[in-house]
Amino acid sequence: MEQEVHKETMKKEQCLVLIKPDAVLKGLTGDIISDLAATGLGIVGAKVVEVTRELAEEHYQHLREEKFFSELIDYITGEFHTRTVVALVYEGEYACKKIRDAAGSTNPEEAHPGSIRGKYGRITSKGRFENVIHASESAKEGEREIKLWFRPGELVSAIFETETRSMTTKETFWKGG
Ligand code: TYD
Repeated sequence: MEQEVHKETMKKEQCLVLIKPDAVLKGLTGDIISDLAATGLGIVGAKVVEVTRELAEEHYQHLREEKFFSELIDYITGEFHTRTVVALVYEGEYACKKIRDAAGSTNPEEAHPGSIRGKYGRITSKGRFENVIHASESAKEGEREIKLWFRPGELVSAIFETETRSMTTKETFWKGG
């Protein structure tokens, strides 16, 4: 009988990472990026973002019914720390799984002590999770989130299909540049 060989198809995928306001305020951005380097994944986009409530609510839309939703939106928009997050797009095989493994469990007290959330996260005395990092839970969710946080031109290559639209908006340039 002919033996069937099942080859696992390795597929490049992208994962959105947010270094959350608690981590930015505590100066942990460099440590977190260093920890993520161990995944061997590449970075194809990076920027500092001031998070609006609209963006935060769209990002966490699947949690709208949760009792912690409103506090989660306050947290990610910087009510408790600083207004900015660092948004990064990582790319590579099994990117989301690799990043989420490095991040650790959602609850920082349950996260492995060597994981990013285990090392740097905490639960506040009021019971709020400050877990320092967001990572897309799957490639599909990664695509939705990356499209929400980044314009195509902000990534080093067009990782998803793009289209050109004629716009009549004004653009800002560096003066004299
Ligand atoms: P979720 O998407 O379930 O977890 P993850 O970030 O690990 O993908 O939840 C999103 C965020 O909501 C989570 O990072 C922290 C916050 N959260 C709470 O504050 N309390 C909770 O009980 C849960 C499940 C999440």
